[in-house]
Amino acid sequence: MEPRIAPVSTNDLPVLNELVKKEFSYLDVDKFPFESKLSNPDFLLYKTVSDGVFSGFIEFEWIESWTVRMNGLVVAQGFRRQGLARTLLEFSLSELKKRGVESVVLIVAHDNAAAKKLYSEFGFSFDSIWSETIQGKEVEYWRLVFSSKPFVGVI
Ligand SMILES: CC(C)(COP(=O)(O)OP(=O)(O)OC[C@H]1O[C@@H](n2cnc3c(N)ncnc32)[C@H](O)[C@@H]1OP(=O)(O)O)[C@@H](O)C(=O)NCCC(=O)NCCS
Repeated sequence: MEPRIAPVSTNDLPVLNELVKKEFSYLDVDKFPFESKLSNPDFLLYKTVSDGVFSGFIEFEWIESWTVRMNGLVVAQGFRRQGLARTLLEFSLSELKKRGVESVVLIVAHDNAAAKKLYSEFGFSFDSIWSETIQGKEVEYWRLVFSSKPFVGVI
């Protein structure tokens, strides 16, 4: 069955917290609780549901009027390499474009080849080395700029 995409809801929080703690143990999920993000218009969180099971999620945050940062993308271990991350990105980038977003930024570990390959496919590219390391690892700052609007001025 095709995975379903839906906004993350309060009922998903226990599973979501577990998933994030497992993948990003350095993050303090209690300090920035997901619960507060669900009702905050600066955040956008989607999940995939595969045969009724929460299988992945993606999070974006508005950091400037037309720029959002992708804060997280995780697919649960048993569901990887089935196209879920691609599906989440396709859906949410299209949604962001509809909302007038012009660019999306993210940070990714230098050695995360899987994520970097995926991001490249969607037009993201390396911008710079991030000023901090995460768990001793070098981190990169990547950016996607949606194609600019057509010029409509009078010459
Ligand atoms: C990175 C991650 C989100 C990919 O999720 P996924 O659902 O398995 O990815 P998809 O099946 O949609 O794969 C899409 C493409 O990404 C690339 N990719 C994904 N996993 C890969 C891997 N292990 N090795 C190499 N390329 C990989 C491939 O190009 C793949 O296309 P293909 O399957 O046609 O070759 C998942 O591995 C994950 O949750 N990792 C841990 C958390 C993480 O690193 N998140 C990103 C933080 S910046």
